[in-house]
Amino acid sequence: MTPVSARVRGLIAEMTDAEKLGQLQIVFRPRLEDAAQLIRDGIGSVFWPRSAAATNEFQRVAVEETRLGIPVLVGLDVVHGQRTIAPVPLAQAATFDPALVEELAALAAAEARSGGVKWTFSPMVDISRDPRWGRVVEGFGEDVHLTSTMARAMISGYHGSSLRSPRAIAATAKHFVAYGQPEGGRDYNTVDASEHRLRNVHLEPFRVAVAAGAASVMASFNTVAGRPMHANHGLLTAVLKHEWGFDGVVVGDAEGVRNLIPHGIAEDLADAAAQAYEAGLDVEMGGAPSEVREALLARVDRTRLDDAVARVLTLKERLGLFDQPYVDEAAEITAPTDEALRLTRRAAVRSAVLLKNDDALLPLADHRRILLTGPYATSTDHLGAWSQPFGAPAGSIADEFASRRPDAEVSVVAGVDFLEDDDTGIAAAVEAARDSDIVVLLVGEPSALSGEAASRSDLRLPGRQEDLVRAIARTGVPFVVVIETGRPLIVSDWIDLAPSVIVAWHGGTEAAGAIVDVLLGDADPSGRLPMTWPRSVGQIPVYYAHERTGRPATTGGTLTTTTEDIGLHGPDNVQEKYTSKYLDLELGPQFPFGHGSGYATFSHGSPRLSARRIARDESVTLSVDVTNTSTRTGDDVVQVYVEDVVASIAPPVRRLVAFERVTVEAGATERVSFRIGDEQLGFRLADGRLVVEPGTFMLHVGSSLDRTQPVAVTVERA
Ligand code: BGC
Repeated sequence: MTPVSARVRGLIAEMTDAEKLGQLQIVFRPRLEDAAQLIRDGIGSVFWPRSAAATNEFQRVAVEETRLGIPVLVGLDVVHGQRTIAPVPLAQAATFDPALVEELAALAAAEARSGGVKWTFSPMVDISRDPRWGRVVEGFGEDVHLTSTMARAMISGYHGSSLRSPRAIAATAKHFVAYGQPEGGRDYNTVDASEHRLRNVHLEPFRVAVAAGAASVMASFNTVAGRPMHANHGLLTAVLKHEWGFDGVVVGDAEGVRNLIPHGIAEDLADAAAQAYEAGLDVEMGGAPSEVREALLARVDRTRLDDAVARVLTLKERLGLFDQPYVDEAAEITAPTDEALRLTRRAAVRSAVLLKNDDALLPLADHRRILLTGPYATSTDHLGAWSQPFGAPAGSIADEFASRRPDAEVSVVAGVDFLEDDDTGIAAAVEAARDSDIVVLLVGEPSALSGEAASRSDLRLPGRQEDLVRAIARTGVPFVVVIETGRPLIVSDWIDLAPSVIVAWHGGTEAAGAIVDVLLGDADPSGRLPMTWPRSVGQIPVYYAHERTGRPATTGGTLTTTTEDIGLHGPDNVQEKYTSKYLDLELGPQFPFGHGSGYATFSHGSPRLSARRIARDESVTLSVDVTNTSTRTGDDVVQVYVEDVVASIAPPVRRLVAFERVTVEAGATERVSFRIGDEQLGFRLADGRLVVEPGTFMLHVGSSLDRTQPVAVTVERA
């Protein structure tokens, strides 16, 4: 059992079995009128009842009307803001700015806790490499280092310096584990991952989150190698609790225990719950155990149950709940402050990715006649998946734009809807375009198309939006495109027609203002893609850090009409033919991970190392001079990728190991330095140990995967 305080030990000694099992449940979104009775019956945790006053009433029932007076733990999915809605987590990852992510989490925590929330089910640290999966929006994308860095930042922001603080909430790293690799991108689907991939990809951000002090970890809905995670002793207990020493709470996902029956590993609810607690689950979400109390108690080891109870009570204690169960209702924050709005606006701006700006149409010049078209011109659907229904709403881009350019003739013609198969409005948009000096196309995927249970098989702009883009392109009037989305989209059918394209994601309460800031050049869109943008759905999964193959391709496919042309029999291109690629696609993705530029331009000096050869356990300093070669201040994101030249296990082609977002004034040079040591050069063995193999490592340094300079470091044999 984990070490516990005298108070927790004393309580456990006094508790009945029923009281213990009550502590091991969070009721999944009960009706308000049912919740008080559930608390009276001994339920340990509930979802937030949406106000400080209602939360205090719950606490009063728990403290005054239960035998032991144990306060209730109040949880909620505070995912990207409570009242002030920040950009979706995938967008936060695109900022490559962990300090900013920490500030956003601290803001969300302060707003949430003021209303009585003590426990959030965030951050999602699942590595997601399949954009068909809708939940990619909730995490930090495809990369292990970026995800781990943002996870650490978010946990630190939620927790602050102490969980007792009236501005802190307990973080949950979810969904443990490998939930981001479901077959076919279908939510809740099967995962089969090797030990190597688990250790080096999926487990790693959780390991970092646990080391950063995550208060809880949520089990995932999927199986791993046939064993559903809610009953996976090897991962929940052997790895998470024993190997990593995690002493917090393992919470189940909604109905995840009940789901063990359809998964086909449990006969009934008692069997499911027993397997889950035995495997290491501490809190069940969805209310099964009281239904099956007797059968469960007959099966589960009592020491295990006491350990689970101890973990829950210890979290309550760490949050200061026993000393102060109530919140100050007068201090509840119910609307964003100006400072909160400024912070989230900054985040939305910093998450915007300039995909291309061929004719330097952006930022917009002083055009007189401007057309705003596309469904996002007037829509206020900017908050994104998992935004709170009580969060501060966003305004529309049309309203914001018109107020910022009162000198211009701004016309607004939506042209098409997000989803409807109706192109009759396109003619009006085309007509308006012909009377304009520039067109701003505001397209994308509405919030409801990403998030949980929102997998898609077609990742193009939905509805008739592509037709609108093509129709505007045909007018010959200059145009720029802003894409709002919660996932990478397939844009290959039209992207070459569009000279300037920005990805704005779902930016939250301040999205409209931020997008106009970026369009007008009042701010720089210098985010970077946290996920690869594929050329086609058939290419998925496509991610940069893939394992090296024995037959890497150097060109794309050349599918034509005859078998000779595709090289089946012809001798000329046999070498190219038998490589890992698609016959009918160009090589590589549409846009790689880390891609994006800004309005400023940069050049890098040659990367320098403090030593060319090091022993294991030693590290080197890598530095590079970044010069702003433009006439405006801007941000560059310096990225360092490692290529392990020869290893005992086929290494990834490249792997991000460090990055820094740096602001450089026009004409100025800043030096950026990184420490490169075991953590950066090593990989994990199946038993979790980090190993650094001797040999040469290429460090590729640059502003984007496709614009890097190499420098070699050698790890010597001991
Ligand atoms: C989701 C979790 C979430 C929980 C509670 C589930 O359906 O998978 O991520 O925390 O609901 O809302």
